[in-house]
Amino acid sequence: MSQYGAIIAGTGSFVPEKRLTNDDLSKMVDTNDEWIVQRTGIRERRVVSEGESTATLATAAARKALEAAGIEPKDLDLIVCGTISGEMVFPSTACFVAAALGLNSTPAFDISAACSGFLYTLQTGVSFIKSGLYRNVLVIGAETLSRLTDYTDRGSCILFGDGAGALVLQRSPDPKLGVIYSSLHADGHGWEMLCCKPGSRHPIGEALLAERNQYMKIRGREVYKFAVQRFEELIEDALRKCELKPEDVSLIVPHQVNQRIIDSAMHKLGLGMEKAYVNIDKYGNTSAASIPIAFDEAVRAGKINPGDVIVMVAFGAGLTWANAVVRM
Ligand code: UT7
Repeated sequence: MSQYGAIIAGTGSFVPEKRLTNDDLSKMVDTNDEWIVQRTGIRERRVVSEGESTATLATAAARKALEAAGIEPKDLDLIVCGTISGEMVFPSTACFVAAALGLNSTPAFDISAACSGFLYTLQTGVSFIKSGLYRNVLVIGAETLSRLTDYTDRGSCILFGDGAGALVLQRSPDPKLGVIYSSLHADGHGWEMLCCKPGSRHPIGEALLAERNQYMKIRGREVYKFAVQRFEELIEDALRKCELKPEDVSLIVPHQVNQRIIDSAMHKLGLGMEKAYVNIDKYGNTSAASIPIAFDEAVRAGKINPGDVIVMVAFGAGLTWANAVVRM
């Protein structure tokens, strides 16, 4: 066990101004507000306008997190960004964020773990702090999924939105504070359930574009079942490993995947819905950005306070799944 804790010193989030409502989508594909609200809980999502991109959203969230932590960009030892819709194929989005913050030698890199991306990023930042190497690490989840969404496919286009969230992690002398537990998992056998194909196997060209494979493809039903099962297992694992009872948990901040998935898992676990922070109605599924946006909103709404125990759970493409427990 490390002699250090990795505490959350500040949080921030940013979403684009532009709203894409269910009624807007019903003019683009054969769908309607009632179906979308009933099946997903989503009422609207935010999408970027010209001039906005993953790095601009990430930088705006990062500035707010730095301000909340009361530190300057120059105090950062590392920047890690979880994203699957980065600024470019390369360089990393984290490099663009570092440059926008005025930094010119702070290490910066991205992590790709889809909807579990923020918890993979968090655990990476925590590990650098607990090892004793770094004091202040900025961890970000940022996505511009609207750029990867097929707005002719009603099975997927209703789900996704854009946004970014960031946390400043700081070294503490108390190892029992901050992120006290995390587990990360992956099973690449399930990659076809949820993917976006452009890359070395499917280079961008006519064959790819003819199948509209420049966009995300999902098998919604299969992902649904996977998500409900993992949600429950991840919560049970977090409670067992941290020797917590359900009543010890102040708030669960889940990946915002689908209101029905969250309701169903909370019900099966015997937990009241007031224990889950949900904002999917406003933003849809923002993949790696969903947990840090929700976490920041909960902090700013006074729903996360010193001494609280927070459990985060995520699941997504890869397949990947992950949890984290924080003692504030
Ligand atoms: O974070 C990881 C990424 N997230 C996900 O992959 C989301 C997980 N999955 C889900 O949230 C749900 O599976 C969906 C919301 C995607 C779909 O809900 P569902 O209850 O699983 O619906 P379904 O796919 O079984 O489709 C039921 C019916 C079908 O019609 P038929 O075959 O019964 O006539 C669909 O064609 O609903 C139809 N449908 C729609 N109808 C109106 C599918 N999409 C729509 C739509 N509007 N947007």
